[in-house]
Amino acid sequence: MGNLEQQKTPKPGKLGLAVLISGRGSNLQSIIDACRIDNFPAQINLVLSNTPDAYGLVRAKENDISTRIVSHKDFETKADFETEILSILDEFNIDLVCLAGFMRILSPTLITPWEGRIINIHPSLLPKYKGLHTHQRAIEAGDTESGCTIHYVTPGVDEGEIILQKSVPIIDGDTADSLAARVLTQEHIAYPEAIRIIAQKHHSLS
Ligand code: GRF
Repeated sequence: MGNLEQQKTPKPGKLGLAVLISGRGSNLQSIIDACRIDNFPAQINLVLSNTPDAYGLVRAKENDISTRIVSHKDFETKADFETEILSILDEFNIDLVCLAGFMRILSPTLITPWEGRIINIHPSLLPKYKGLHTHQRAIEAGDTESGCTIHYVTPGVDEGEIILQKSVPIIDGDTADSLAARVLTQEHIAYPEAIRIIAQKHHSLS
C-alpha cells in the first residue's frame, strides 16, 4: 500500500483530519509535527487549499499527505465552491475539519453538515477582535494581553464555542508584527492541544 493510500485508511483510534489552508501553513506544520508523535490521536488525511500557491501545500507534499486545490475563483457562487469542498471531504475518511489560516468565510452550505466537527484558529482572545487585523486592534485598544483561540465553527464568524485559548503579554513597543509572532508560537502549541481535547471527547462518546 502506498503512502497516500495509507493516509486514507484510518488508524484505529486516530481521528482523520482535513486541514484547510490558504497560505504559509505554519499551523498545518505544527499539526503535521504533532501527528508524528506515536500516541497523538489524529492523522492528517487531506490538506485542501483555496489558493494554488499556498506554501502549506509544499509542506503537505513533503510529508506525503494528499492535497487538493479548490480555488474559489473557479466557482460562480460560494455555494458551488463549498459543495465541491464537501464532495472532496467525503473522499477521505475525515472526522474533523481544521481551518488553519483558511481565508474564506464559510456559509451554512459547508458548516451545517460539519457542525460540531469543524474548528478554527483565530489570533485573538475571542470574543475580542473577531475578523481581521486582530493584533493592531489589540495594541490600539491598549490591551495588556492578547493570544489565540481555537473554537468550533458556526455560521456566525468567530462565534462558535471556545475549545481553548492561550494568552501572551503585550509588551511596550510591540508592533502588529512582533505581537503576531508571539501569538503564533502559542498557536502552534494550541492547535495540537485542541485536537487532543476533541479526540478525548470523541473516544468517550464512541
Ligand atoms: C494564523 O495567525 C491564524 O491564526 C490565522 O491565520 C494565520 C495563519 O498562519 N487565522 P499559518 O498559515 O498557519 O502560518
